[in-house]
Parts: sequence; C-alpha cells; structure tokens
Amino acid sequence: MEYKELIKQLDKKRMPQHIAIIMDGNGRWAELHNTKRINGHKKGVETVREIVETSVEIDLKYLTIYAFSTENWRRSKDEVNYLLKLIMDSLVKEIDELKKNNVNIRFIGSRKELSASYNKKVMETCARSWNNTGLHLNVAMNYGGRREIIEAFNQIYQDIKTEKITETEINDELIGKYLYTSGMPDPDLVIRTSGEIRSSNFLVWQTAYSEFWFTDTLWPDFSSAEYIRAILEFQNRNRRFGAR
Ligand code: FPP
Repeated sequence: MEYKELIKQLDKKRMPQHIAIIMDGNGRWAELHNTKRINGHKKGVETVREIVETSVEIDLKYLTIYAFSTENWRRSKDEVNYLLKLIMDSLVKEIDELKKNNVNIRFIGSRKELSASYNKKVMETCARSWNNTGLHLNVAMNYGGRREIIEAFNQIYQDIKTEKITETEINDELIGKYLYTSGMPDPDLVIRTSGEIRSSNFLVWQTAYSEFWFTDTLWPDFSSAEYIRAILEFQNRNRRFGAR
C-alpha cells in the first residue's frame, strides 16, 4: 500500500512523540549491488531524507537517527573520512530545506574525537534552525550510550563539588538533565533495520521503556511505507511501563 494511504490509518491520539532509528545495512546493501560501501552510505542519505520528510508530514515531535557511533572509528580510515564528510555535506546541503520545513536540527554525541573546526561548523549550521518549532531532529554523531552516561557522571560530580547540586538530588529526572537529550521525552519507539536484533549502545538510559521494532530491510531500501507500518504496529502494542 502506498504510504499516503497508510498515514490515514494512523491513530492521531496514539502517536509516538519520539522515534529513534538505528540505520543499519548500508554496507550489505552495497555488497548486494556489487558496489563500494560508500555508495551504500550515499544511498542511505536518500532514505534519511525520505524518512525526515515523512516525519514532518505526520507531525512527529522528535526523531533521533544513529549516524556515527563511538565504535565506528574502528572502520577503515577511508570509510570513516567518507562518513564524516558525507554527514557534514548533507547537513550543509539540506539546512535551508530543513529550515523551511520548521525542522530544528541538532547533533548529539561526544565532541571529543571530532576536530574543533568540524564541531564549530556543525554548531553554526544547526543553529540556523534553532528557532524552529516543528520536528526536532537529533543526529547521533560520535554517539555512544555509555559514553553519554560517563560524561553525565563526570558533570554531576563536578556540580556536586562546586555545590551547584547536592548528592541527595540524584534521581531519574536529574540524570536525564545531564544527558545529550536533556529536555526531550524518551523514545517511544526504536526502529532497527537490516535484521540485527540488538541496541548497540544507542540511547542506553533513554530506551528503558521503549518499544523495539526490527525489520530485515537494509537501510537504503527502507521506505516511508514501512516506517508508517512500524508506527501502526507500535500503536497496537500495549505499553504498561512495568504496571499491570
Ligand atoms: C550502517 O550501515 C550505517 C552507518 C554506520 C552510517 C549511517 C549513516 C548514514 C546513512 C548517513 C547519515 C546521514 C545524515 C545526513 C545524518 P553499515 O555500514 O553498518 O552496514 P553493514 O552493517 O551492512 O556493513
């Protein structure tokens, strides 16, 4: 079914507020098409564009996409350099269109391994969209869930030492404020493509109660229709958050 038809089936009252996506399978897509891995990533960016557009269309509030993990540095130097450049080039190329569509984009993750000039360019480009009030698009870049929690611990420790907070204040809510996703709702739904059934250090703290949805489809082949089907299935699940 065409995705426009599927959108009509969505229950407006049970929309997820925050969807997080592990975009996996670009490399295998490339292999399947007898082409270089980088061409899989290039095709993957087209899917990102389509899914962001559809997210805007269904009035989603938050979308977080896993673009580059703290573990991805272990790939070949060529592939790493290509990914860093592809992500930056896509941001620069799409920022006007994102702005026009009321999208508020930010990168979440650790700045540590990225160069100062890279971080600066990301910040300046994203900042152009920060008055926007529509979709909040988080690009998880040099992101690791454990790293995020370690950085939060360190900052909490600093803030206790300087008496900004006291240790008696440490609870779920306070920890949430020290994460990259501070002020955002936790993901309701996590989607992972390419048939891998694991969470790979993605939003470790925030996905404690998230619903997970997996598909064998490789990311470059993922479509708006399948995206909406995932949301429809989510709407049919019974979330209890530990209660009966
Ligand atoms: C996983 O496929 C994909 C990535 C590690 C990179 C995803 C990045 C993009 C699609 C570009 C993002 C662009 C923007 C603008 C945010 P894989 O290489 O792990 O595939 P494999 O498991 O089949 O080898």
